[in-house]
Amino acid sequence: MRGRFITLEGIDGAGKSTHLRWIARFLMDHGRKVMVTREPGGTAVGEKLRGLVLRGNHGLNPETETLLMFAARREHLDKVIIPALARGHWVLCDRFTDATYAYQGAGSGTDWKKIGLLERWVHDGLQPDLTILLDVSPAVGRQRARRRQQPDRFEREKGAYYRRVRNAYLRRARANSRRVRVIDAGRSLPEIHKELEEILLTYC
Ligand code: ADP
Ligand code: TYD
Repeated sequence: MRGRFITLEGIDGAGKSTHLRWIARFLMDHGRKVMVTREPGGTAVGEKLRGLVLRGNHGLNPETETLLMFAARREHLDKVIIPALARGHWVLCDRFTDATYAYQGAGSGTDWKKIGLLERWVHDGLQPDLTILLDVSPAVGRQRARRRQQPDRFEREKGAYYRRVRNAYLRRARANSRRVRVIDAGRSLPEIHKELEEILLTYC
């Protein structure tokens, strides 16, 4: 049986990595085969593109950046995500196309219509079964992300940038309300896990 495709989204520091680990454990405890991956990345070429975009200092035009994200995504879908789903794995992906709308779109100014064109081309009909949007204020995200040692290029952006990114995520959630579940991630871990459990049990 085909597995399910779950993506996690949110601004930097929202808790994606933390909750991804918890969700993976929860699903394995419920007898599911789980594969964890991330974007940009997930393949050899995707990880190279990740380095180029997140660590490089190339002054990339936001549209170039958008194209690189989707190039990495096509490779990821082809080589990793689609085969894993076909093998019956539940694929947990740390960020996916909603992040491109939020960061390259609302954050950096790429037209959402152009992102939509690439989405239709690259996804070729596939969408996540479930997207969990961990919503926190930019102030909380920044405070949590600060605990990390090496901020990437986006983590060095200012508050206004993150307000646009957060609002874009919330807009995407409203426009895709059957797929995207918004979680108030400013709460304690046990409160968030309780809500995640309720959501996941409806898919198990
Ligand atoms: P992301 O992957 O979204 O950037 P992380 O999962 O790395 O965020 O979380 C950033 C930091 O915040 C970590 O130190 C993590 O332990 C902490 N954290 C995440 N969620 C919570 C929460 N609900 N309450 C308190 N601390 C949290
Ligand atoms: P993130 O997933 O938060 O990884 P880490 O836990 O190592 O910080 O960082 C990935 C960065 O990539 C994040 O700042 C958002 C950015 N990004 C985009 O700008 N567009 C995209 O399409 C994706 C998938 C990520």
